[in-house]
Amino acid sequence: MKVSLAITTLLSTVFSVAWAAPDPNYHIYLAFGQSNMQGAGDIEGQDKSVDSRFKMLATAGGCNNRRVGEWYDAIPPLANCAGGLGPVDYFGRTLIKELPKEIKVGVAVVAVAGCDIQLFEKDKYQSYDMPDWMKGIVSGYGGNPYGRLIDVGKKAQQYGVIKGILLHQGETNTGQQDWPNRVKGIYDNIIKDLGLNASEVPLLAGEVVSGDVGGACAYHNGVIAKLPQVIPNAHVISSSGLSQQGDGLHFTSAAYRTFGQRYAETMLKLLGDVKVENNGNSNNNQSNNNNQTSTSKKFEDGWYYIKNTGSNKYLSVKGAVGANGQNVQISSTKQKWKIYNNNDGTVLLISEFGDYALDVSNGSGENGANIQIYSIHGGDAQKFIIRETFESNVYVIDTQASNGQRALDVEGARTDEGTNICQWSDEEKSNQTWTIESAGSSGNTNTGNNNNQSASCWSTSLGYSCCKSCINVAYKDNDGEWGIENNNWCGIPKTCQSNSSSSKCNGAQGFPCCQNTCEVYTTDSDGDWGVENNDWCLIDSTKC
Ligand SMILES: *[C@@H]1O[C@H](CO)[C@@H](O)[C@H](O)[C@H]1NC(C)=O
Ligand SMILES: *[C@@H]1O[C@H](CO)[C@@H](O)[C@H](O)[C@H]1NC(C)=O
Ligand SMILES: *[C@@H]1O[C@H](CO)[C@@H](O)[C@H](O)[C@H]1NC(C)=O
Ligand SMILES: *[C@@H]1O[C@H](CO)[C@@H](O)[C@H](O)[C@H]1NC(C)=O
Ligand SMILES: *[C@@H]1O[C@H](CO)[C@@H](O)[C@H](O)[C@H]1NC(C)=O
Ligand SMILES: *[C@@H]1O[C@H](CO)[C@@H](O)[C@H](O)[C@H]1NC(C)=O
Ligand SMILES: *[C@@H]1O[C@H](CO)[C@@H](O)[C@H](O)[C@H]1NC(C)=O
Repeated sequence: MKVSLAITTLLSTVFSVAWAAPDPNYHIYLAFGQSNMQGAGDIEGQDKSVDSRFKMLATAGGCNNRRVGEWYDAIPPLANCAGGLGPVDYFGRTLIKELPKEIKVGVAVVAVAGCDIQLFEKDKYQSYDMPDWMKGIVSGYGGNPYGRLIDVGKKAQQYGVIKGILLHQGETNTGQQDWPNRVKGIYDNIIKDLGLNASEVPLLAGEVVSGDVGGACAYHNGVIAKLPQVIPNAHVISSSGLSQQGDGLHFTSAAYRTFGQRYAETMLKLLGDVKVENNGNSNNNQSNNNNQTSTSKKFEDGWYYIKNTGSNKYLSVKGAVGANGQNVQISSTKQKWKIYNNNDGTVLLISEFGDYALDVSNGSGENGANIQIYSIHGGDAQKFIIRETFESNVYVIDTQASNGQRALDVEGARTDEGTNICQWSDEEKSNQTWTIESAGSSGNTNTGNNNNQSASCWSTSLGYSCCKSCINVAYKDNDGEWGIENNNWCGIPKTCQSNSSSSKCNGAQGFPCCQNTCEVYTTDSDGDWGVENNDWCLIDSTKC
């Protein structure tokens, strides 16, 4: 398979954004852990508003309409929508109260209730046998909470300076003596993956509910106490006297507020006398940067494979059959879709099995509406918006039928072969995120028997019929050769082109014959390949 050079170049173009230099007065903290870090306290009246100097970077999809990787006022829940009030809330509120008013504080919290420390070990998380109830939260982090923490950490570094890492975890690993070293492994990875200096970025680890108030896992506090022995810049935050909810595991809202203050007091001591730094950059008004929104990404018209990130399976037509109402599902077999850009920011997605387009059943705007293929008509049911997510090369495919509110969704977030695809509220969970990979060829190369000459009949997808015979070429463009029949443009079937050329070369895999070059770049079963006009061409063996 030759990958079109033109398309490859296009896809690898770095979409650079002119960021302002990071603001040294924007202090960033990363936080991770299990339920107490996720926050298990009721969010009460006093918690519901916050000074705009305290910001959060959204880390989880599908929560309060926040988009992953964008900044918001730090109103709880900070970690995800399963969470409540946690220690980071009053950590940030205390810091901004104590620090000069020119200093802003931003936090990014990734936490999964009930999780073992293994979930954050980047070499081991994939083998973590997590219970079903945990999967939804992990899915909100793209299936990889550590990876998400690093991704948002990198984003945060475009705005400010990472000053510390907060941890609250251990209940699930109670008493395990290797826990401090496992935490060290994760901390070291964060330092390395974000290019930080460990002497300047402390780890603040909070104790679990203490024995003096009936903590069920209080034994683990003896293990947490050993962290500073393996991580020189680790500091333990005492939970002494902080009340719990009666389950022996979770702090009360009042206790979370005090706990957050304790984290902050430790941090303030480590920061010492904080001076407002001169940015050295006239544009130090970071509020200008706070409105980065995901934009729709324009793909070049052409053939692509579309793969769901949650299941690692491809968007595909059931049975590989083109027919009205044929169902669309996930499959481990690749199928091609032709992206055709409409002029309104939406795309038409044409199946490789004839002139059928991806289609929302009945053009419905509702949750659960089925996704199928249907004869191309180009109505709203067949218009989709490819929306960029925070992760590079990962997209959500919203439906115009729902005014962009709902997205292609693998039902039940299942991964088995043939799982149905429907339309569901856009929550950017991993059953709604897709990678889009060029399928290389510019035309429909499936000339299989069930495919009725659509390989040669390429113009219907552009809204023109195919010429009934191999007529004279009236016009030629990037799409192909055009003729005129019954006073209308028609696409001359590609199979005709062999006759218009005196050579024996027909091109292959949708690429043309070379016109002038005999220089061989690579060879495969089709013959020798050269490069012309920035794209592959098949070398005519009778000429070279
Ligand atoms: C790390 O930070 C410490 C303390 O600020 C400094 O002395 C040291 O030179 C730094 N190391 C590197 C590699 O920048
Ligand atoms: C920063 O920008 C905001 C809004 O864009 C403006 O209200 C504020 O005065 C600016 N602050 C400074 C220090 O320029
Ligand atoms: C940021 O986005 C919000 C919501 O879309 C909008 O109301 C606000 O005006 C925007 N602010 C700036 C500075 O563009
Ligand atoms: C689509 O509409 C038809 C008739 O209007 C109805 O019978 C059918 O159940 C609908 N299909 C879906 C998936 O809603
Ligand atoms: C997609 O996955 C999310 C999270 O796992 C789940 O809440 C949602 O219901 C799934 N969508 C459908 C249609 O089942
Ligand atoms: C193939 O084309 C013929 C005539 O062009 C048509 O009768 C037949 O229904 C088509 N088959 C399919 C599967 O589209
Ligand atoms: C190519 O030309 C020959 C004769 O010149 C003709 O019989 C044949 O149908 C043409 N090929 C196509 C695909 O039309």
